[in-house]
Amino acid sequence: MTQGVKNNASSSVDLKSAPKKEKDYSQYFVGTAPSMKDAKKRTKNGIAYNEFEGIADDLRELGKGRTFLIRTYGCQANEHDTETITGLLQAMSFEATEDEREADVILFNTCAIRENAEDKVFGELGRLKHLKKEKPELVLGVCGCMSQEEAVVNRILKSYQHVDLIFGTHNIHRLPVLVRDAFFNKEMVVEVWSKEGDVVENVPKVRKEGLRAWVNIMYGCDKFCTYCIVPYTRGKERSRRPEDVIAEVRDLARQGYKEIFLLGQNVNAYGKDFTDIEYGFGDLMDEVRKIDVPRIRFTTSHPRDFDDHLIEVLAKKGNLVEHIHLPVQSGNSEVLKKMARKYTREHYLELVRKIKEAIPDVVLTTDIIVGFPGETEEQFQETLSLVEEVGFDSAYTFIYSPRHGTPAAGMEDNVSEQEKKDRLQRLIALVNRLGREKNEALRGQVLELLVEGPSKNNPEMMTGRTRTNKIVHFKGSEDCIGQLIHVKITEPQTWTLYGEVVAKVEV
Ligand code: 5AD
Ligand code: SF4
Repeated sequence: MTQGVKNNASSSVDLKSAPKKEKDYSQYFVGTAPSMKDAKKRTKNGIAYNEFEGIADDLRELGKGRTFLIRTYGCQANEHDTETITGLLQAMSFEATEDEREADVILFNTCAIRENAEDKVFGELGRLKHLKKEKPELVLGVCGCMSQEEAVVNRILKSYQHVDLIFGTHNIHRLPVLVRDAFFNKEMVVEVWSKEGDVVENVPKVRKEGLRAWVNIMYGCDKFCTYCIVPYTRGKERSRRPEDVIAEVRDLARQGYKEIFLLGQNVNAYGKDFTDIEYGFGDLMDEVRKIDVPRIRFTTSHPRDFDDHLIEVLAKKGNLVEHIHLPVQSGNSEVLKKMARKYTREHYLELVRKIKEAIPDVVLTTDIIVGFPGETEEQFQETLSLVEEVGFDSAYTFIYSPRHGTPAAGMEDNVSEQEKKDRLQRLIALVNRLGREKNEALRGQVLELLVEGPSKNNPEMMTGRTRTNKIVHFKGSEDCIGQLIHVKITEPQTWTLYGEVVAKVEV
């Protein structure tokens, strides 16, 4: 058996002794295999706050002369986890490469939110089978949300035996030991913890960008929306201590970062798990707004926990930008109930009214699912009318994708695929029209931009973002990268805006 993975919630699998036709591989795991059932449990146990124990001396040189490549799928939580994985690998002396053929370690940091995200990863794993054959010493790993699903791990064990390493979202800090095991053992190394989760502080990380930085304020989700796999893959809601978050934001400000993105699956539940202090997301925002950094954003909000105190604090503006991503999912109260969103259409609209009253120039964006099991045409029409009524600037729109083990996957679904696609198209058309109208209203206005760099499609143009996260292209030189400037909007389009420089902003 593999050394270093003998944790009571970990496992190593000797494929040579595993009968090939066996469907249930759980018997080959030491302790528990990934289990959606265990992952669902929520106990009254407090949250353990652990310090990263460091990297053992003998692992610090393991990566010398070796390179790694990480492919990241999904949301910002995954992007940020990739920064932690990068930090750990670099602390082990591995160097980053973009060249698949050169890499000694290739990791897929995966997303489980919809089936097509998973299909992509399986496609990539299949594609890399040849490379692994040519280069047997390559360590091919899968981590992120898909690793937390037992069905996925079993499928990898059955059909993707060229994979060397599987680890989950709760044990990223164990990567040094796991990578060592993957290098030195012939068996697949599998370590997935199906548990509520802890908070581990001070794990090394290497941030990808020099301008914008993600900061986790909490992990996990307890909302259990009936369609969603996140509470199973990311554990229970657990907040980082405010002093740790604030210290990290201060440090990033000192390092010159211009925009801080506070992250959580449901940031509005921040602090609800503290037993010793009364401290919520509004309190945290009220603290970080005093830090000398030009912009602070957050994602994602849940309408149910969005309270008046937070609205009051956001209305103070300053470095708190006037953009709120507020997923609605559906405009029909019956569907919302079946989704277990725990708010109604009316509640959502009332929240929007309050936000707009306090922050008149707020930009609202959202997530919407169409074709939830049993959704009728009339119910879908209510989604369209809510979108129109709120006047979102943009929206992420999805066709419902059944996720194995979630309650909605067992609901009767009588909406045809064609109908779902048709609804999505109608919704996208509406969202695009509203986006165009919103952008058109910005024509002639002067907006503050944080300049990111040359435009991807036209190197003669520079690109920046407004406080409301809209992309603006303008003629300018590279010396304004990282600066805040003012541009006048000359040519608004549906997705992007064009403008010309008016002035730099002193910060
Ligand atoms: N099918 C389709 N969309 C989903 N989302 C979450 N789970 C599913 C699913 N099973 C969407 C929600 C969420 C966003 C991140 O992904 O809209 O807000
Ligand atoms: Fe998923 Fe709902 Fe939690 Fe968002 S709030 S992560 S949609 S369960």
